[in-house]
Amino acid sequence: MAQTFDVVVIGAGPAGYICAIRAAQLGLATACVEAWRDPAGEPRLGGTCLNVGCIPSKALLESSEQYEHARTGLAEHGVTVSGATLDLAQMLARKAAIVAKMTKGIETLFRKNKIAWLKGRGRFAGRGEAGWRIEVAGDGAAAVVEARAVVVATGSKARHLPGVAVDNEIVCDNVGALALTEVPRRLGVIGAGVIGLELGSVWRRLGAQVTLLEALPTFLAAADESVAKEAWKLFTKKQGLDIRLGVQLGQVEASRKGVRVAYEQDGRSEQLECDRLIVSVGRVPNTDGLGAEAVGLKIDARGFVEVDEHCRSSLPGVYAIGDVVRGPMLAHKGEEEGVMVAELIAGQKAHVDLETIPWVIYTAPEIAWVGKTEQELRSAGTPYRAGQFPFSINGRALGHGDTSGFVKMLAHQRTDEILGVHVINTHASELIAEAVVAMEFRAASEDIARIVHAHPSLSEAMREAALAVDKRALNM
Ligand code: FAD
Ligand code: NAI
Repeated sequence: MAQTFDVVVIGAGPAGYICAIRAAQLGLATACVEAWRDPAGEPRLGGTCLNVGCIPSKALLESSEQYEHARTGLAEHGVTVSGATLDLAQMLARKAAIVAKMTKGIETLFRKNKIAWLKGRGRFAGRGEAGWRIEVAGDGAAAVVEARAVVVATGSKARHLPGVAVDNEIVCDNVGALALTEVPRRLGVIGAGVIGLELGSVWRRLGAQVTLLEALPTFLAAADESVAKEAWKLFTKKQGLDIRLGVQLGQVEASRKGVRVAYEQDGRSEQLECDRLIVSVGRVPNTDGLGAEAVGLKIDARGFVEVDEHCRSSLPGVYAIGDVVRGPMLAHKGEEEGVMVAELIAGQKAHVDLETIPWVIYTAPEIAWVGKTEQELRSAGTPYRAGQFPFSINGRALGHGDTSGFVKMLAHQRTDEILGVHVINTHASELIAEAVVAMEFRAASEDIARIVHAHPSLSEAMREAALAVDKRALNM
């Protein structure tokens, strides 16, 4: 007789593990199937985000910023540092320790919430008496469990390019790019998207000469156009990232000595020679080997599980959340879907508003936004007013010694409802939270303009941008 659960979650990334915790909180007998192994072969929870994504990348971003700051950022503060050197092994060890702490933390949460961790690869194996049958193939013989509800949270993996073999030593995806044991002299990056910019920045700060090859003719096309323009200036002219746009990739030849990338730009044939290459051209959902076809679970042409706005799949009692379904591939989006689905399974009402999901790119300065960009409003014909306030005249930013960037607020011309907020600043990831709250409450720009913001603080720029929507910024 198969062990039975109310809910079986397949995948313990941020979408899956949060879903399992919420389901257990609601009194549902919950199991979570996870196949991940760490480099030493030990089973690990946390998925892409904790093991080879958000957490290790942010650890390296911070360490590399500290290194660059120690070398070049302290003189203006009157602090002289000489002989700052890089201990890359220590930097990587710190990153590994943070990852271990976070993944162990989920094990503790699973124990606390009495969630069964089924170690192995899960796949649909038909229907049994108690519900869906899930086969878990681990170290020993495959086990079968049954569940009334199944949540597919199998996440995504790096998209690779045809003819470009990734060995994660010379040619890397996100896994190898977070673990280079030497700083390459010349680093090539294919794709100037989020990973390309974040990890390109890490290795540039540590000493690599970084060239990014981007297929699109527009830089950061998803961001607001004025933010993208400011970021372009800062990343290329100030920081020295060599970003080549409108590139058509040709042959990529890799050997132990390095990589030669042939490409075309503006009709000219060009070549990039580099010591290491990062391929960061997007991610693809993990639906292979899930047994979807065996039970008739609908998968779309791009490999995503088809779901409705409540993450319900084509099968009764089967849900899918996170990177394996439509919408932004962001950890916090998956987490919110996890909470929603657990609550729906428990019979509650729940929803996720994809319109108020914040985006953050953790470059220096950071880029963060929520809602619509100015170009989106323009092309939709939505009447709007824009207010913008630069950090160059914000007292706190001057104190920090980082005055780059601005806050830009977009509000409906008639109703004044906030439609989008865009921040480019060292602390944009934190500042954007205020805008998310405001948009969730459908606030007007005037609401932010009338709220007291501490002085001196970076958040004053948010208030000034709100005031600027009505052309009455006080400090500009
Ligand atoms: P995943 O985290 O991919 O987890 C899925 C899990 O399912 C994995 O552990 C996998 O082993 C398991 N699995 C798959 N198939 C099976 C199976 N058949 N049986 C058992 N287990 C299975 N997002 C942000 O919001 N902020 C960031 O700063 C950020 N930084 C990133 C940096 C990098 C370098 C990368 C690569 C991604 C980053 N992301 C970031 C994106 C974020 O990591 C993903 O959006 C998030 O991990 C998706 O969560 P998920 O739970 O859907 O999937
Ligand atoms: P991405 O979609 O952000 O960027 C990929 C880039 O590669 C695009 O600009 C695309 O035009 C370009 N590209 C595609 N094919 C190409 C080709 N053949 N030649 C040259 N350029 C090509 O994807 P990325 O950076 O791989 O990241 C994947 C996802 O992971 C992101 O979309 C995001 O959802 C998530 N992520 C989120 C982070 C965050 O929230 N801070 C950080 C890192 C990743």
